[in-house]
Amino acid sequence: MKNTFFFLLFISAIVALFAFAFSFSQSDEVDGQQIFTDSKCIKCHSVESLEITSKKDDALDLSNVGADSDAEFLKKYLVKEETMNDKKHKTKFKGSEEELNTLVDWLLTLKTEEVETEG
Ligand code: HEC
Repeated sequence: MKNTFFFLLFISAIVALFAFAFSFSQSDEVDGQQIFTDSKCIKCHSVESLEITSKKDDALDLSNVGADSDAEFLKKYLVKEETMNDKKHKTKFKGSEEELNTLVDWLLTLKTEEVETEG
């Protein structure tokens, strides 16, 4: 009986470990999205094309932000070194340089103009 208990405990530990490892091994695309949600961007932004919805009623939808932006500009804009329509962004991105790169790469994939065929 005791052995069964420890065996089950052991199995649960293994499963937990795999789940943990798996959460770090996702593709770049998911990572960027993860940074986006973790950085609270969804407080003010939604990405309707990916069904990411903000609680804010007048949230700015970023579904097509990749269509007319470039990486260098967005990176500077998100750390308030660059302005858009004479205004700086509301918040300064607080993550690392690497996270900023991943985030911006992901933002640039957001295009609704080129409609992808649904599977
Ligand atoms: C406090 C609210 C707020 C938060 C939080 C916020 N933003 Fe914004 N963001 C805005 C507003 C407002 C604008 C529009 C500014 C303008 O039009 O002058 C904007 C504009 C943008 C744009 C440019 C959109 C365009 O029209 O090209 C991008 C990209 C963007 N935000 C990304 C982000 C990312 C990524 C995060 C998270 C790291 C974030 N925002 C967090 C309020 C916010």
